[in-house]
Amino acid sequence: MPLIDLPLLKERLGPLAGRFDVDALDDCDSTSSELMRRADRGAPSGTVVVADRQSAGRGRRGRSWLSTPESSLTFSLLWRFGGSATRLAGLSLAVGVGLVRALESLGARGVRLKWPNDVLLETAAGHAKLAGILIELSSDRRGTQAVIGIGLNLAPPAGELDAPAAGLSQALAAAPERHAVLAAVLRELAALLDGFAVDGFAGLKSEWQSRHAWQGAAVQILGDGEAPRAGTCLAVDDDGALLLDTPAGIERVFSGDVSLRRA
Ligand code: ATP
Ligand code: BTN
Repeated sequence: MPLIDLPLLKERLGPLAGRFDVDALDDCDSTSSELMRRADRGAPSGTVVVADRQSAGRGRRGRSWLSTPESSLTFSLLWRFGGSATRLAGLSLAVGVGLVRALESLGARGVRLKWPNDVLLETAAGHAKLAGILIELSSDRRGTQAVIGIGLNLAPPAGELDAPAAGLSQALAAAPERHAVLAAVLRELAALLDGFAVDGFAGLKSEWQSRHAWQGAAVQILGDGEAPRAGTCLAVDDDGALLLDTPAGIERVFSGDVSLRRA
């Protein structure tokens, strides 16, 4: 029996339950891979796959996402948009705003964003990764489908990771209840994605910046096979590009193949 109980989730979703078609699995390779297969067979916008275990959970650029059933929430949401993928620039940043809103609605404090796709928690030792967002787009003549994969630590993960990790339990007075957390995230995302379909990222830019963990900080941009680029995080642009103040002027950095690190 999966840890997510569908009738209870429906109750938590309240009036928005009708916008989602949720399937809860004990295990799968990756909720995003499973949802992409379902999308290819015509699954509607609002389809959600949530799984207790992933055998091949993935992050950006071929990295792995590690999770255990008790300490995490791993799910993917399908959202269909009209038009081409270029209209969806900044979607992963927009989803980050939705996640922060949802976690704050549950009482969490100290939740911050890291460009382009991480949710961090402020801890006594600095920032630690609380959640990751993976957006995968594909387009055809009818429009663009986005598979929005979210991995959220309910408790700090036990295994060895490249960078510090945190759990939502550290940001709340009481242990987070997974149905309440998933419902809060889906509710916020439905409202945010409706707005994003019309206005894009521009209307969310200042909210994103006000949550950026490294706004005004000295950083390095690391790309495969390129020398690191140094600069200061100035802002983000309407399309989600990071505006970096460098000795050579203001550079626009696109998220594709680069990682942001504190200098
Ligand atoms: P960037 O996004 O800046 O390129 P990143 O290190 O955050 O860098 P991502 O691809 O976004 O990389 O995320 C994958 C990384 O997340 C993995 O390399 C791993 O270090 C880390 N990771 C995997 N599972 C977890 C988890 N449950 N909690 C926190 N971090 C994790
Ligand atoms: C990242 O930080 O690079 C993104 C991590 C995204 C992990 C989630 S877990 C649910 C969904 N299924 C996956 O295989 N990945 C995403």
